[in-house]
Amino acid sequence: MLNAHFVLLLGALSAAAQQATFSSQSTTTQDRTVFHHPIKRVAVIGAGPAGLQAAAKLVEHNFTVRLFDRAPGPGGNWFYTDETPVRESYPDTPIDEEAYIPEHLPATHYYEEGEEGITLEDRWKEHWQPRPVWDNLHTNSPAVITELPDVPYLPDSPWVLSNHVIQRHVRAYASLHNLNANDYPIVSSSPPVTAYSTRVEKLEKIESSQTWRVTVRKLERLPETNQIKASWWTEEFDSVVIATGPYVAPHVPDIAGLADWSKISDAGQYSVYHSQSYRRPERYQNKTVLIVGASVSASEIARDIAPYASSVFASVRRHENVPAFRLRSFQRFPSTTQFLPEIAHFESLPSEARDQGIKHGNIHLKNGSVLHGIDEVILATGYIHSNIFLPNFTADGQPTNLHWTGHWIPDPTLAYTNVRPWTIGRYQSYAFAKVWEGTAHLPSQKQMREDYDNGKYHFRGLFSSAPAEALFRQYVAWLNNESLENGGRFVEPWPMQNREVFVYYSEREWIKGYTTLANFTDFEQLPSREWPTGKADAWDAIVYDDHDW
Ligand SMILES: Cc1cc2nc3c(=O)[nH]c(=O)nc-3n(C[C@H](O)[C@H](O)[C@H](O)COP(=O)(O)OP(=O)(O)OC[C@H]3O[C@@H](n4cnc5c(N)ncnc54)[C@H](O)[C@@H]3O)c2cc1C
Ligand SMILES: NC(=O)c1ccc[n+]([C@@H]2O[C@H](COP(=O)([O-])OP(=O)(O)OC[C@H]3O[C@@H](n4cnc5c(N)ncnc54)[C@H](OP(=O)(O)O)[C@@H]3O)[C@@H](O)[C@H]2O)c1
Ligand SMILES: *[C@@H]1O[C@H](CO)[C@@H](O)[C@H](O)[C@H]1NC(C)=O
Ligand SMILES: *[C@@H]1O[C@H](CO)[C@@H](O)[C@H](O)[C@H]1NC(C)=O
Ligand SMILES: *[C@@H]1O[C@H](CO)[C@@H](O)[C@H](O)[C@H]1NC(C)=O
Ligand SMILES: *[C@@H]1O[C@H](CO)[C@@H](O)[C@H](O)[C@H]1NC(C)=O
Ligand SMILES: *[C@@H]1O[C@H](CO)[C@@H](O)[C@H](O)[C@H]1NC(C)=O
Ligand SMILES: *[C@@H]1O[C@H](CO)[C@@H](O)[C@H](O)[C@H]1NC(C)=O
Repeated sequence: MLNAHFVLLLGALSAAAQQATFSSQSTTTQDRTVFHHPIKRVAVIGAGPAGLQAAAKLVEHNFTVRLFDRAPGPGGNWFYTDETPVRESYPDTPIDEEAYIPEHLPATHYYEEGEEGITLEDRWKEHWQPRPVWDNLHTNSPAVITELPDVPYLPDSPWVLSNHVIQRHVRAYASLHNLNANDYPIVSSSPPVTAYSTRVEKLEKIESSQTWRVTVRKLERLPETNQIKASWWTEEFDSVVIATGPYVAPHVPDIAGLADWSKISDAGQYSVYHSQSYRRPERYQNKTVLIVGASVSASEIARDIAPYASSVFASVRRHENVPAFRLRSFQRFPSTTQFLPEIAHFESLPSEARDQGIKHGNIHLKNGSVLHGIDEVILATGYIHSNIFLPNFTADGQPTNLHWTGHWIPDPTLAYTNVRPWTIGRYQSYAFAKVWEGTAHLPSQKQMREDYDNGKYHFRGLFSSAPAEALFRQYVAWLNNESLENGGRFVEPWPMQNREVFVYYSEREWIKGYTTLANFTDFEQLPSREWPTGKADAWDAIVYDDHDW
């Protein structure tokens, strides 16, 4: 296992950047933001559905774009491989540890097998972080909201798609825009747009030049010499799009005794894993499995392993209000699942039993019962929501200080995108291009700050801010109004038939609608509408009659 220091060697926004003030980069006239320096070079960090859309649009608008991703190819969360991530740490490690960066850049280093006690395999996996997606994973959203422009799914595609179909879809989009891993520059003299297997370690604002300095590390495997070549260098940009996705690391719950149990092996194999490593059900043949958690990963993995496992238990925390989305998961657990209350602690195993697996150990539940004979534990306990490049990202996964377009209010040469649904990305990417080329204008910083402080116009990711419909309309009205004033093509709203499908799917499958066909034209007309809660007791939900989804 990697030592903790290496598990999360991610960059951090430097102190300088955190204090970067808006004033030196841009000023505002009475009513709008004006950038002092022309914006030509843009870095996009992350090549998932969000970053690919941003990069494609910025290239179309003649920016000099660099797209960095730590993974070996495009797809983001959907870059499925059989490779599993480096095992998570027990308990969670702090996420703000700074990456090792050599003092003099550029630099290279050739890592040998076992160097610093780390295998080449683990070094490679720690660098790019294989995705938390399993072979039989299907979407929990209708195809219309995970569709990228110009690469439609086949006409007879089902409503929900296999992760492999999504993966090919995203690759097709990347290829169409010359952003795939082996694509060459369109003009051979221009620098390549993409940099895969290249992790951004640090992002800092250089006040003297008003540029963003990106420090990266690229890894290359050299099988002929059995080494990994690491190269570090820096590049400078006028603007940066952060498209690194909503999850930074798996979350391991802080349950007494769990860290100890995580070290117990049976014939050399550990029995406690986070759901990020789940790939296929065969491993669970004839096993008694305990799943911790009751959300989407928990219910879907339970469904996948149920035909193989001899029994499946799920430990569920009890809550007053259960989000609608969570109710769906309760209903999707296989009927043979045995629900258990929250775990109090994992009892320490006697030393003579430590190499015979966890099945000899006792798990104490909060209601006083003791569970014995579990072969495997799957922690479907979610992810740490954070963003190493954005200060003040809240614990529940919400970036702060963002204008509703995704621009960072303290310095709008920085922008954030997280596509839910993916279809919002086409408008958001266009907004980045237009604002930075000067054919659309953000309000004054004062106005953005006021709107933000008044609770209006928060960019909070779709599902917890406003119904999709309002956000779509807000973009369309604003972008087209700006194009009318300043030039640029017009955009169309999301097609009515797709909205219908989304409404139908969410009301049927998620129990409560997440979008609406009401005629809102901007956020101000929105009725107050929070994340809908099922308001049902979790335990009632388990025995819900209407099981037949
Ligand atoms: C198990 C699972 C199932 C899901 N199922 C669905 C679903 O059915 N429907 C749905 O709509 N959504 C689903 N999602 C949500 C998923 O996050 C989105 O579908 C989508 O992938 C988000 O796109 P993104 O581009 O914002 O981020 P991601 O797809 O996460 O892409 C972010 C990219 O940034 C890169 N990156 C991160 N840090 C760095 C760095 N420091 N340097 C360089 N590159 C970096 C990563 O390597 C990654 O490729 C699921 C998520 C999970 C975990
Ligand atoms: N397409 C698909 O089918 C699919 C599959 C998997 C994931 N996803 C997506 O991936 C994202 C993450 O989903 P996820 O299910 O992995 O994570 P999640 O939704 O964050 O759920 C985490 C679960 O872990 C539980 N938990 C956390 N700490 C716990 C503790 N100490 N004891 C007991 N339970 C604990 C939480 O319970 P509490 O409610 O008590 O906090 C919750 O049930 C979601 O966006 C989801 O839609 C999609
Ligand atoms: C990009 O540059 C090309 C070639 O100069 C030009 O034809 C095109 O209009 C430009 N695109 C935009 C969006 O400015
Ligand atoms: C699982 O149990 C069944 C029935 O007892 C048995 O036939 C099968 O061989 C077992 N499989 C494994 C992999 O142990
Ligand atoms: C604890 O909960 C489990 C699952 O509902 C139940 O089988 C068991 O009897 C409970 N124990 C006590 C002491 O109530
Ligand atoms: C982050 O939040 C803290 C506390 O709310 C605040 O003082 C600080 O100004 C914020 N930083 C930025 C960059 O927004
Ligand atoms: C459209 O642009 C004009 C001129 O900049 C501005 O006065 C008006 O408020 C804008 N309307 C919308 C809906 O953005
Ligand atoms: C749509 O707008 C009209 C005119 O403003 C209004 O009367 C009607 O109530 C609106 N419909 C909804 C569903 O809000």
